[in-house]
Amino acid sequence: MKVLITGAGGQLGYDLIRVLSGSHQVIAMTRAELDVADEAAVNTTFRQMKPQVVIHAAAYTNVDLAEQESDNAYTINSIGTRNVAMAAEELGAKLVHISTDYVFDGSKRTPYTETDRPNPLGVYGNSKLHAEKFVELISGQYFILRTSWLYGKNGSNFVTKMISLGQQKEELSVVADQFGSPTYTLDLARFIEHLMLTDRYGLYHVSNRGYCSRYAFAQAIFQALKWNHIRLVPISSSGFPAAAQRPEYSVFDDTAIRLNQLPRLRNWKDALNDFLHNDYVLEDKGDD
Ligand SMILES: NC(=O)c1ccc[n+]([C@@H]2O[C@H](COP(=O)([O-])OP(=O)(O)OC[C@H]3O[C@@H](n4cnc5c(N)ncnc54)[C@H](OP(=O)(O)O)[C@@H]3O)[C@@H](O)[C@H]2O)c1
Repeated sequence: MKVLITGAGGQLGYDLIRVLSGSHQVIAMTRAELDVADEAAVNTTFRQMKPQVVIHAAAYTNVDLAEQESDNAYTINSIGTRNVAMAAEELGAKLVHISTDYVFDGSKRTPYTETDRPNPLGVYGNSKLHAEKFVELISGQYFILRTSWLYGKNGSNFVTKMISLGQQKEELSVVADQFGSPTYTLDLARFIEHLMLTDRYGLYHVSNRGYCSRYAFAQAIFQALKWNHIRLVPISSSGFPAAAQRPEYSVFDDTAIRLNQLPRLRNWKDALNDFLHNDYVLEDKGDD
């Protein structure tokens, strides 16, 4: 398949390229090569490249800064997705759109299914929800994948931040009242490859299975690394003020994956161990 990836310089983009390059013709577009907010550029590029599948991984992902830079967040996430969806639809290409658990307010205490009503708490989540709406309205062949707590080799994420902090301090305070499912971008990229070859269109919740608090996530990272000298202190979100409010609970139920008999993702701890032992290169990260 001829597959165009937007946001190819990001952490999911990196793993999409790794997974797809072996058996597909991949057109990887970084932000410098294609700004999705530029409607004319999107149209011109898509018409030239004629992809059969578009994976839209580009996004404004700074959740806190989005509260200040809401115009930017809506322009990239909502309008940018509209541009991508319209250009893909013109070509009759399948569209894989990546969305987020932050479309939910986190007030539930049982896993969120695809039929639960979104209610974003901040600009980022709202801009991504608008993006979903554009995809649903514009595209005839779409997969919307909501995912959560992404980490991977090519990115700044919770895992890399914890490791970096652990190299500087022996005691770390970590929020213990936010619950979600850490998700390895390599697992997500593999799932996307499987899904894009089907015609099982629609909305999917796609995360590594099981869930944890941010605190338990940090514990698992240091246990896997055998950094037993690190002392973790559980704190509440109120002790760690941030510009954007985050959902307290955003665990997913993967009903759509099961109903469509698609491969379920593995448990988050297995994925984390695989990442830390087989993919992440500690020596390369320095001690800055
Ligand atoms: N990270 C998470 O925990 C998480 C959780 C749930 C869902 N998601 C979603 O998953 C997808 C992939 O996220 P990620 O973690 O891979 O994010 P990421 O590492 O921040 O990658 C996003 C990429 O999009 C690029 N980008 C930003 N504005 C753009 C524009 N106007 N045109 C083209 N590209 C642009 C960024 O480039 P620059 O770096 O140069 O700005 C970056 O390379 C996104 O849709 C995100 O909303 C992420």
